[in-house]
Amino acid sequence: EELALTVLDEVDSTNAEVIRQITAGTRGIPVVMADCQTSGRGRRGRVWQSPRGENLYLSMGLTFHGGFGVLDGLSLVLGVAVANALERLGVPEVGLKWPNDIFLPDGKLGGILVELQGELEEGVVQVIAGIGLNVHMSRAEGVDQPWSSLARVCPNVDWSRNQIAGAIIDAVLDAVPLFSDVGFADFREPWQRRDIFMGKPLQARGGDVEGVGCGIDDAGNYQIRTQTGTVPVRAGEISLRVV
Ligand code: BTN
Repeated sequence: EELALTVLDEVDSTNAEVIRQITAGTRGIPVVMADCQTSGRGRRGRVWQSPRGENLYLSMGLTFHGGFGVLDGLSLVLGVAVANALERLGVPEVGLKWPNDIFLPDGKLGGILVELQGELEEGVVQVIAGIGLNVHMSRAEGVDQPWSSLARVCPNVDWSRNQIAGAIIDAVLDAVPLFSDVGFADFREPWQRRDIFMGKPLQARGGDVEGVGCGIDDAGNYQIRTQTGTVPVRAGEISLRVV
């Protein structure tokens, strides 16, 4: 299937633009990039800082057959795809923070927001995969955690947003059919290899569960090894933080 690529100067949110294109019946796989976003969305209702010209704001509309169940693990699969693409571009030490943050040793490099568009017909579901990556990010107002950028970590590289986008789009289009065919199984090891929580002391938010990070299970749930056994943490509201 062909890509329907749109590159915009400014948009509210590239995810929102993909949703509009799907609703309008655009043919092909919708891919939208923008130089800046006026209402960039992050996970859990947060704002995604989206200054002009500095970063990658990319969204793709993806279709899956087999009902909503196939979506378990999709955001982890996308994290692996982005990490693969960055490694191919020469970025060292790309880490993943469950469920789907892209990390470098000095902080968060990017994030992925998967939004469910709905069921096209029986069993055919459409999702929007939005990827935000700090490329030249020079300032971040109101960001409450350490963040990184490609230009800071690899200052000698002349980072081209379009080149990065091409590598990520390729990696996503490689990963999606594999995920559709065989599910999450093949992605567990490549995800786990980059797990920044592995072996670290953790707690699930709320403090009810405390232990040590020990990777993901077959379904992509994060697991914490506690004194009384291994506890799976489900995707959703729960987040993990280093104690
Ligand atoms: C996160 O909270 O970590 C996920 C951030 C996802 C941001 C990207 S930027 C492109 C796409 N459009 C949006 O409005 N959000 C995503």
